Amino acid sequence: MRIIFFAGKGGVGKTSVAAATGIKAAESGRKTLIMSLDIAHNLVDIFDLGRHLLDQNRGKPIKVRDNLWIQELDIQEEIQNNWGAIHQYLSLLLNTTGLDEILAEELAILPGMEEVSLLLYINRYVQQKKFEVIILDCAPTGESLRFISITTTLEWYMSKIFKMEKTLARLVRPLAKRIYDVPLPGEDYFEALEKLFERLQGVDRILTDPQCTTVRLVTNPEKIVLKETQRAYMYFSLYRMLIDGIIMNRILPEGLKDEYFSDWKKNQEAYRKKAEEYFSPLPILDIPLFRGEILGYNQLKKMGDQLYTGRDPLDRFYTGEPFRLDKVNGVYRLQLKMPFITREDIDLNVLPEELIVRIGTYRRHIPLPRPVAASKSVKAKLEGETLNITFKGA
Ligand SMILES: Nc1ncnc2c1ncn2[C@@H]1O[C@H](COP(=O)(O)OP(=O)(O)OP(=O)(O)O)[C@@H](O)[C@H]1O
Ligand SMILES: [Mg+2]
Repeated sequence: MRIIFFAGKGGVGKTSVAAATGIKAAESGRKTLIMSLDIAHNLVDIFDLGRHLLDQNRGKPIKVRDNLWIQELDIQEEIQNNWGAIHQYLSLLLNTTGLDEILAEELAILPGMEEVSLLLYINRYVQQKKFEVIILDCAPTGESLRFISITTTLEWYMSKIFKMEKTLARLVRPLAKRIYDVPLPGEDYFEALEKLFERLQGVDRILTDPQCTTVRLVTNPEKIVLKETQRAYMYFSLYRMLIDGIIMNRILPEGLKDEYFSDWKKNQEAYRKKAEEYFSPLPILDIPLFRGEILGYNQLKKMGDQLYTGRDPLDRFYTGEPFRLDKVNGVYRLQLKMPFITREDIDLNVLPEELIVRIGTYRRHIPLPRPVAASKSVKAKLEGETLNITFKGA
C-alpha cells in the first residue's frame, strides 16, 4: 500500500500533479485511486470528463482507465452515510437559535466533516486492500493542515470531553427539557459520534507510517509561494508525516529568449536556488511551464513523464526525517540531520518565523513555530550527523 499526499498553496498545480502521478502509477500496473480533499473539487474537470459522471456515481470512485479511478466526495452522500444523527442534532440546534431550517441544515455541515469523511475512506480502503496506491489531492495549505490535525483533536475530544458531556446530558436532560428551549443531544448523537470515532481508529498510524505514506509539497519559484511551502514543510514534519520531495512547478523553459520574461527568469533562478537552502536534503523535482492549461489524460501524462524522468513515482525519494522538534521539560529541542557537515563552527540566526543555520559556506533555513522562535537562549551542538539545537526561555 502506498499513499501520497500533494499539498501546497492555492493554484500552484496540486491537482494537476496529483493526477499526473496517478496516471504514472496506474500505467505501471498498480491499482490507483486519486481522491480529492478539496471542497472545490475539480478532478473530473482536469481529466476533461463530463460532470454528469459525478451525478451518476455520487461520491463513489469513477473508473477513468485500466487501473485508474478518481473519487470526489459528495458531502450530501456522506452526511446520509456517516453523519446522520450528528448532522440532525446540529441542524436542530441551529434551527432553535432562530435560523431558517434550510440554512441551519447547510451550516450544520461543520468544518472538518469532509476531512473526517475522507479519513474514513482512507481507513476503509487500506483495510479492504482495494487499491494499491491512493493519491490525495489536498486543499490549499491551511485546510490541509486542519485535515492532518483532525485525528489528534478528535482523540483529545473523545478522551477528555466526550464522556463528560455524555454523562452530563443524561443527568440534565429531564430537568433541562423544562427549563431551556435549547435541545440537548440525545443518545443517538453520542452513539453516532462513538461509532465514527471507532471507524477512524488506526488512520493516524497509516498517515504517519513513512513506509506507506509520504507528502510531496507542490510549489512555484516565487517568494510568497515558497514562504507558504516552508510553513507546510514545518507543519507536516511536526505531525511526523514524511515529506519525500518538493515539486517545483511552472519553471520557464530554457529556450525562452523573449526579453519580456527576462526578469521572471532571473527571479525564478534565484528562488529555485533559495528552495535548495530551504528544503535540503529533500530532492526538488522540476516541471516546466507548459504552453497552455493542462487538460485531459494525455497532457497530464506528459506532465507525469517530465516530472518523474528516470524515477518510479511511488518510490520514497527521501527516507530520513529532515528535522524533529520536541519539547522536553519546557525546553524545545530541534534535531537536524546534517549528513555532510564536519565543521563545528556553527552560526545561528533566529528570526520571528525561522532559524538560519550557517556552517561554513553551507546555509539552511528552518521554519519555526512562533513560540519556539521567541526563545531567548539558543544553543547548538553537532553530534555525529545530527545538529541538536535547544531553545530556552520563551
Ligand atoms: N506546469 C504548468 N504549465 C502550465 N499550466 C499549468 C502548469 N501547472 C498547472 N497549470 C495550470 O494551472 C491551473 C491550476 O492548476 P491546478 O488546478 O492543478 O492547481 P491547484 O494547486 O490544484 O489549484 P487549487 O488550489 O485551486 O486546487 C490549471 O489551469 C492548470 O492547467
Ligand atoms: Mg486543486
